[in-house]
Amino acid sequence: MPATPAASSGSAFVYTIGCQMNELDSELSLATLQGDGFDITHDPALADVVFVNTCSVREKAEDKAFSFLGRMKMLKRQNPNLVIGVLGCMAQKEGELIFRRAPYVDIVAGTRQFTQVNDFVKQVRAGRRVLALGRDDEVRTEQRLKARDTRVSAFVSVMRGCDHHCTYCVVPNTRGREDSRPLEEIVQECRILVGEGAREITLLGQNIDSYGKRLQPRRRSLAELLYAVADIAGLWRLRFITSHPSDLKPELFAAFRDLPNLMPYLHFPAQSGSDAVLARMRRGYTHARYMELVAAARQAVPDIGLAGDTIVGFCGETEEDFQQTVELHRKTQYQTSFIFMYSEREFTPAVKLGLADDVPPGVKNRRCNELMELQRQWSREVNRQRVGQVVQVLGEGESKRDPNKQEGRNPQNQVVIVESGRDLRGELYNVRIDRATNAALYGTLV
Ligand code: SAH
Ligand code: SF4
Ligand code: F3S
Repeated sequence: MPATPAASSGSAFVYTIGCQMNELDSELSLATLQGDGFDITHDPALADVVFVNTCSVREKAEDKAFSFLGRMKMLKRQNPNLVIGVLGCMAQKEGELIFRRAPYVDIVAGTRQFTQVNDFVKQVRAGRRVLALGRDDEVRTEQRLKARDTRVSAFVSVMRGCDHHCTYCVVPNTRGREDSRPLEEIVQECRILVGEGAREITLLGQNIDSYGKRLQPRRRSLAELLYAVADIAGLWRLRFITSHPSDLKPELFAAFRDLPNLMPYLHFPAQSGSDAVLARMRRGYTHARYMELVAAARQAVPDIGLAGDTIVGFCGETEEDFQQTVELHRKTQYQTSFIFMYSEREFTPAVKLGLADDVPPGVKNRRCNELMELQRQWSREVNRQRVGQVVQVLGEGESKRDPNKQEGRNPQNQVVIVESGRDLRGELYNVRIDRATNAALYGTLV
């Protein structure tokens, strides 16, 4: 008798809010579901199971999750069997409260449960509601190592959680304490991904410079990890994010020189340029120290691309403090900087310490717009320095900005857009840069 194909468990859809860590967790949730007979759909209206993977870093991110859930509630009216789940940071932080606010939700699971999503769906189908927030739940390794939908560029998480106490930040609360994966396991996962066609790997950690500090039987370092992963044959490009200025070790810069496939790009957020604000944020460095690191990075790797994150309007920020931040941006010459208005979050040290969110919204807004406008000009200048150069690009396919063109990234992670009659995804090609905006470089294939 011919084997009957296994019945599908239904179609699943995952909507992702938040950082790259969440993007990766969503990808692994989908792999888990796929491995258990679910089909993947890109349209929630066609799904039997929908998950939203949430972020709590700013209030807006949480609003976005609830507005998505509102839309799912409407879908559930048409399809009462629709299973709705909330995963990730907001689920971890709000827990049971989500059921109260959105009673049509079936699953609330935190930041360490995404490889159990298939079991959760089964429990719901058996008539139970699921609340799973265990902070010590093990993320199933076999799931990570199993085939997933491999793209040219893949993310690999090297650690979870964060041991810092930046006063504005909710991440240590939602993701728990720092916990590094064994080096050999990471290398194995990268090897599998490269074997399946990945050409670029980005290693992810909230504070990646402290990778390995508690590993047994011996401590490991980020440098050790980079040398081990870079050694994998067939890996064209290696990147890592995010660096914390108080943990970044200048010795690491040698790795950029030694490893030809380690790309010259550093994302190391300053958050503020004012020493008083940095102290209130408990960042552990000063404006001057940050600039020393910038200088050391540029000296070791002259062509390095720098990216930052900045919060404006943090508790007690004066106009002078803000000007210090503007000054830090002006001097650093970031390729890109992500600029946010401070959003007070429950369970953060700032709230526990009683730091007042006292910069009026109008002022936050003005400072944010002012800095963003300046940064756009500076980014344009940084990008214009590439005009006339020939740069090597790893193709990502159709451009998001212009579907008739192809886009990819150069070693510094700048977006490069070209015209081409064919799909260049996954190829390395050279481009002569003709012009630049603050957001992208435009050029011709050579
Ligand atoms: N682990 C990374 C980033 C974590 S969150 C790091 O340490 O750099 C990403 C960015 O969101 C932060 O760098 C910060 O700029 C911003 N952010 C964090 N908490 C915030 C808050 N309460 N309000 C506004 N922006 C915030
Ligand atoms: Fe948050 Fe600071 Fe940890 Fe980054 S280093 S995740 S900003 S606490
Ligand atoms: Fe990432 Fe947001 Fe959580 S930034 S770690 S998804 S709070």
